[in-house]
Formats: sequence, structure tokens, C-alpha cells
Amino acid sequence: MNFWNGKRIVIGLGGGIAAYKCLELIRRLREAGAAITPVATPDALRFVTPLTLQALSGTPARTELFAPSEPDGMDHIRLAREADLLIVAPATANLLARMAQGQADDLLTALLLARRGPVLVAPAMNPAMWEHPATRRNVLTLREDGILFAGPETGPMACGEDGQGRMSEPATILEAARRALTPKILAGRRILITAGPTREELDPVRYLTNHSSGKMGWEIARAALRAGAQVDLVQGPVSLAPPLGVRLHPVTSACDMLEAVLSVWLRNRCGQTGPDAAILSAAVADYRPETRQTDKIKKGAEPGNLTLSLAPNPDILAMLSAWSGVRLRDGRQRVVVGFAAETGQALERGREKRLRKGCDLMAINDVSAPGSGFGTDTNAVTLIGRDGLEDPWPLLSKELVAERLIAAVADWLDHPRVPDPRMDRCNPT
Ligand code: PMT
Repeated sequence: MNFWNGKRIVIGLGGGIAAYKCLELIRRLREAGAAITPVATPDALRFVTPLTLQALSGTPARTELFAPSEPDGMDHIRLAREADLLIVAPATANLLARMAQGQADDLLTALLLARRGPVLVAPAMNPAMWEHPATRRNVLTLREDGILFAGPETGPMACGEDGQGRMSEPATILEAARRALTPKILAGRRILITAGPTREELDPVRYLTNHSSGKMGWEIARAALRAGAQVDLVQGPVSLAPPLGVRLHPVTSACDMLEAVLSVWLRNRCGQTGPDAAILSAAVADYRPETRQTDKIKKGAEPGNLTLSLAPNPDILAMLSAWSGVRLRDGRQRVVVGFAAETGQALERGREKRLRKGCDLMAINDVSAPGSGFGTDTNAVTLIGRDGLEDPWPLLSKELVAERLIAAVADWLDHPRVPDPRMDRCNPT
């Protein structure tokens, strides 16, 4: 089911030029299936009209604390109580100050004061106003009160200045809203994710690689962030910008990836607590050129065919699995998840691969099946586990595959499985 379907969102608009961007946010949320109620301060109506807000949201804009259409004067209480999320965008310096002081002198601030559930604000103001000690104090107070923030971002402003104070783009606010509403099944957990291809250089101009776009790992990282985890993303060369909030470790070759993965995974030994789980979705090259030529290999330097000599790369998944028995410093067990990219007989080969590499869970995808595997926005996965789990999922968006995978990992972490030794014995046939 679509996440936003039936979600009730109140969007409070403050009086700033960024109010125009909020119209796009309303449009996107409504298109996604949410029910929107716009609430505008008197100053917001200098920038956008009630008619525009109504046309885009499908609901009359609320603008007055004591509207004649609401004879009991309880609109602010009803809205505050019924909404799943309250988004304030743009949140001006004045609006943040009034919120921090608990003022309730218009409909928006009154309903913010009456609100018990989550509130997300997207500040927008001139950089000097954002940096002013009064605004810093107000932001601190609001954070301590549990108010969530999206932005502001740095860039050119409508006032002609350049600095921090730009309201975040609608897509960023939408993702922050999604995070605000996602159950925190990985709160307090750290997750290590690998994504993308590796690139094994032959010479300064050529390399061996594969078709991985990094989308699968990107979605897993985003799902883990939404679920409240701290995420380390070790990523091969891809064209995707990382999801906001990950700790990114860009790498090129399999050997680089191994080094980055181990430096994160082994933090456990250096007086810090390492990740609770590793999800290795990267398509790591199994081989690399035995020697990297320092000069470009010249065509015709050798008569006839060119023969490349390849050396095996280290198996990162097998190494992590071998060490996953070492518990975290506080005694918690760790979980290691691999991906198996197969072409035909996927389940049998995936079972064999999980045993050989020794991981707890393995997401098997047949990369030759339509809509599945490299570069697609969808994937068909069968999740198998050390505990005997074999769960075939239908063709789903990679976003949904990632969400299901994160739920499975959270369940393993919360309910550590007693390893069944029979599951780790290779079938001799
Ligand atoms: O990036 P996308 O375009 O979205 O595509 C997604 C994907 C197809 C890359 C992804 O769903 C996937 O299948 N990832 C695993 C690709 C792979 O390398 O599969 P494998 O069967 O060769 O390896 C099995 C596991 O061992 C993987 O977890 C891999 O990360 C790991 N491995 C492999 C080789 C190696 N030297 N070290 C490893 O750790």
C-alpha cells in the first residue's frame, strides 16, 4: 500500500517568499495520496492566495483563528489533534520566535501550541537572520521541544545574499516528512551498507566493471535512515547523490571497498561500538588485473590476441560473516546480509552461496529476469536465512524491497536466532 494514502497532513505557511515553493510541496503530497489541510498566517496570504491553496490541496485554506464557518472556535484543536504530521513551510524567523515562546496569536501558532504529535519545520530567512543569536536560541529551544527540522540550505537568496537560509526543496521536505512518520524500528542501531559496482583498473584509461547503478543499495540506505539508523554507505563509482544523512565512504576498487568496510566494521575493537548489521548489496568484481600498467596498453604491442591475467579479489562478505560471531562491546549480536546476483537456478545457487559465504541472510535476485537486478527501479528477491527462512517476494519497487529487507534485519536484531548448525552444513550432493 502507498505510504501516504490517507495520511492527514496540515501544512502551515508563514509569510515569506519561499511560500511559493510550498505550493509544489502541497501538490506532491496530494498526488502521493495524503489529505492536506493548508493553514496560512495573515502574512503568508501576501505571497499566496487562499484560492491557490484550495485548488492545489483540494481543501479550503484555514486562515482565521475565529472563523465564522467554525462556530465553536475549535478548529485549531481539531486540526492539531487529527493530523498525522504538521509541516511548517516556510518557517520564518518571526514564526520560529513565536513558536519558541509558545505564543498563540493566530490560527497557525494556536494549533502548534495545541499539538502533541510530530511537527516538522522548514526554515526560510535571510542568512543574517538565521545566524542571529536570537534565532539560534529559538532553534535550540524548538529542537529541545522535539520539533524536527528540514534545512535551511545554503545558496543564493531572494534578497540577493548568498548563505544559509534557503528553504529546502519540496523533495527534501517530503523525505523529511516521510522520515518523521516512519516507525523507528532501527533506533539506536548502526548499519553498514555497500552499493554500486567496483572498478578494477587495467591501465590509466581502462577498467573492468559491471552494470550496477547503486540504486538497490541507495534504497536500502534510505530505508535504514527512515527507520532511525545511523548509516555508513560504502559506495563504488555511481552517478547517484547519496541520501541525506548517510556517512558516505566513496571507493573505486574491491580492495578499496574491503578497506573501507573493515574500517567501519572493526570500529567495535577501537573503543567504539561498530555497526549492528552489514548489508552488502554492492556488485564487487571477483577478479582484478594482476598488475595495473602505469602506461596505457598500446594496441598491437603483442601480436594476435591480448591476454589479461586476473587475480582474485578478497571476498568481503565471507570475511564479515566469519567475524560476525564476535559480539558488539555491549554483548549485542551482529547480522550480516549478502545479495546473490544469479542468472538461472537462482534459488539453488543462492542457497549454496549463502552457505559458502556464511552470512545470516541472503537476498537472491535473478538478474536475468525482466525488471530485476542491474539498473532497474524494481527487483524480485527471495530472502533466505540461516534459520531456514525462504521467503519469495513478488516483483516490487527497489524502495519496497529495501523496506522489507530493513524490517527483516530489525527483526533479526531484536530477536537473535539461535544458529541451527544443520543450516550451515553444505549439502554434499
Ligand atoms: O545497483 P543496482 O543497479 O540497483 O543493481 C542491484 C544489484 C543487482 C547489484 C544487487 O541487487 C545485487 O544483486 N548485488 C550483489 C551483486 C553481486 O556481486 O552478487 P554476487 O553473487 O557476485 O556476490 C554475492 C555477495 O558477495 C554480494 O553480497 C557481494 O557484495 C559479495 N561479494 C562478492 C564478491 C567479492 N569479492 N566480495 C563480496 O563481498
